[in-house]
Amino acid sequence: MPLDLLKPIDPAWTSGDGSAVDPELAAHVAELTAIDGTLGRFYAAAAVALASAPDPATLRERQLALLGRERGIVTHALAELPTLSVEERKRRGRGLNLIKRWLTDAEARRRAALEAAAQAGDALDVTLPGQRPWVGRAHVLAQVRDELLDLFHGLGYSVYTSREVELDEYNFGKLNFAPDHPARDAHDTYFVGDDVVLRTHTSPGWVRAMEERKPPLRLVFPGRVYRAEQVDASHMDQFHQIDGLFVDRDVSMADLKATLTTFARSIYGPETRTRLIPIYFPFVEPGCQMDAACVVCGGDGFVRTDDGMKRCGVCGGSGWIELLGAGMVHPNVFRAVGYDPEEVTGFAFGMGLERIAMVRYRVPEIRLFLENDIRFLRQF
Ligand code: PHE
Repeated sequence: MPLDLLKPIDPAWTSGDGSAVDPELAAHVAELTAIDGTLGRFYAAAAVALASAPDPATLRERQLALLGRERGIVTHALAELPTLSVEERKRRGRGLNLIKRWLTDAEARRRAALEAAAQAGDALDVTLPGQRPWVGRAHVLAQVRDELLDLFHGLGYSVYTSREVELDEYNFGKLNFAPDHPARDAHDTYFVGDDVVLRTHTSPGWVRAMEERKPPLRLVFPGRVYRAEQVDASHMDQFHQIDGLFVDRDVSMADLKATLTTFARSIYGPETRTRLIPIYFPFVEPGCQMDAACVVCGGDGFVRTDDGMKRCGVCGGSGWIELLGAGMVHPNVFRAVGYDPEEVTGFAFGMGLERIAMVRYRVPEIRLFLENDIRFLRQF
């Protein structure tokens, strides 16, 4: 009596679709059944066992139980063939060899399917919550700068980029600072060499531009500037400015005022009131400072709080906020660059970016701009 192939079939193997591992399952079962009914039933059950193996380890386990060199039932059945009658040996041998070939194929198919599924699982599980990408943005000062450059671009200005390490002559001399004028001290200059400084303002850019180009000129000069300041909540030893320069025939103070009021209303709102007050800068005459009515108290100088009226902290109670310095370009500056002050006139202005951003966004501390603390920066 030959080995009972069906005996070791594990009842747990029997649910599943055998044709998933052998597309020709029905034909193969029929072919085996024609040889011997037991062979057909065995093959059908073994195919299901392989098709239903849930993972590679289980698949390997079942493969060893069926085809393994040591304990595989098919291996044992083949080994027993020489003990059978010639007739039986031929018949059964043919069936067992077919079974061995088809089960080997079936096992390979199931293994490939399990590997593909594992890889697909690694690649994408649409049920997992997504990972939000880190979305960066321009620094708040870059945003304000770009907004201002856009505005001035609309008024016909182009950008001129000038150097941060500047000759004393350009930072001061050609801008009409007398050699020992005390205004040089007011700038608390960092010297790099005897006559080389870190620029204390962006105004030396005008000199560079005018020496290179002929009038008319309409330029803005954004950039970083340096002053040896005592650092506190509103002073840093590096900060940013944008200067503007307009040179043509018959440019007047009225043009300056209209331009600067347009600027103030665009950044602080269309109702913003402004005023010009006289102030000294060596490179302009007349020189002025432009103030805007305080954006917090509206120019009243005080604010209503839960404990009554309080002095406005943003304008310090004056009702006005100093925005920028400006004026008509000094004839000596034109002479220094080879322009004829009888021919051309011009106005210029210069503003601090940090200051404009601090007033607009109520930032109380200038150092925040340089610290790169993401909790601060992502608010803008
Ligand atoms: N350069 C001046 C400063 O840094 C600002 C200014 C520019 C004033 C243009 C008048 C005209 O203080």
